[in-house]
Amino acid sequence: MSELSRRNLIRAGGALGALGAFAAAAPARAWTWSSTGSIAGTGTGRDPRYVWDDLADPVLASLLDRGGVPAVNDVLRSWTKNGQTVPSGLPSDVAALVNQTRRLPAWADQAKLDLAYQFTRKRGLYLGVLYGMNSGMMSAAIPREARAVYYSKGGADLTDRIAKTAKLGYDIGDYHAYRPDGEMIVTCVKTRLTHAAVRHLLPQSPHWVASADEDIPISQFDIMVTWHSLASSVWQKLREWNIRIPKAEADAYLHIWQVTASMLGVLDEYIPASWDEALAQREQVLVPLLGPTPEGVKLAEMLVNLGDRIDFTLVTKPAFESVTRYMLGDQVTDWLGIDRNPILDATVAAAWIPFVRLRELGLPLLGVPSIYFVFEELIRKFALFYLEPGQTINIDIPTMNNPN
Ligand code: HEM
Repeated sequence: MSELSRRNLIRAGGALGALGAFAAAAPARAWTWSSTGSIAGTGTGRDPRYVWDDLADPVLASLLDRGGVPAVNDVLRSWTKNGQTVPSGLPSDVAALVNQTRRLPAWADQAKLDLAYQFTRKRGLYLGVLYGMNSGMMSAAIPREARAVYYSKGGADLTDRIAKTAKLGYDIGDYHAYRPDGEMIVTCVKTRLTHAAVRHLLPQSPHWVASADEDIPISQFDIMVTWHSLASSVWQKLREWNIRIPKAEADAYLHIWQVTASMLGVLDEYIPASWDEALAQREQVLVPLLGPTPEGVKLAEMLVNLGDRIDFTLVTKPAFESVTRYMLGDQVTDWLGIDRNPILDATVAAAWIPFVRLRELGLPLLGVPSIYFVFEELIRKFALFYLEPGQTINIDIPTMNNPN
């Protein structure tokens, strides 16, 4: 372990120590959210902590066991557009799975999905920084996700993993995301296959088994927890900052995330039907679950250092840390072992809302505190990172866990 990891762990150690390494691994709470608030409007009563992916899991387990993943990755590499026929050469069980899981849910509304693009264009600057600094950092404080990410193959090369996750952030906000010329269906199907592979692989990792509080990772409950760290946490922040969003655009943004949950295999009975329902579900399933883990501390350290990758000029590491603290609050940020910078923390906390107000009024940044320029660079660089097409990124199904 690097000296920095050790220091961050010690810093977060108060929280870890108080909870105990295993208490920190608090098991997901019982599911009490009523499916009457879901897209289905009713439910089977199945607890999503014990629902995974009945369609994809057996196919990927068999594919991994017979060593067929590399050949499937080779074939799927050229499948990039939603409307494209799946290339030939896939084993019949995988071809059938891909063709089944690429179908949009019957309730998907293309007009709403198109409007979501307008919303992203108008609010993309905020969305980029929120996906990166709010959702991305928060994921390190979701114990099950932190462990899964840390001990899976992607944990060995976080830069690559972030780039792949950023592809989803880009594709979901892209023009025609779910139309034939978009890429979001392909990204969701490949992610669903990857998640199914991880369900088979992680239980073979002694490190994951030693720290996990579950036998199989990435249940539908877990997917909704992560969904809330993305969709409803972003939504909550935009409301907190009093950003005016027309109702139709708000509904459209929700809709594109509802469709995405469904495309990742989540059943309609667990997907909230409205923002009010989503925020209520978030309070039940995400908020009480956030907590410290050694894996989360190490991931957060890597994430803070990823600031280097974005090639900031004005945004220093302390500025990155202070904005993270402002977004997530003291408790979560302390759980992640992130440094406190008392003067800068206070400056950021006092300046963010006035900065947002000024931007909303469309006024030029003249004669304003210098911290505003740091904010401006953060949001522009994150928007570029998340919302502009980068290098060609392909999501490959993993064949192994993190070897380290
Ligand atoms: C892979 C998105 C939920 C753990 C991926 C990838 C994407 C993605 C785009 C492919 C990128 C890559 O291969 O690195 C999402 C979204 C989710 C979600 C949008 C929910 C809305 C979860 C949850 C967990 C999880 C709940 C664990 C608790 C993983 C792991 C990988 C992965 C371990 C594979 C990394 C690797 O080893 O290559 N996810 N995910 N994901 N996801 Fe998720």
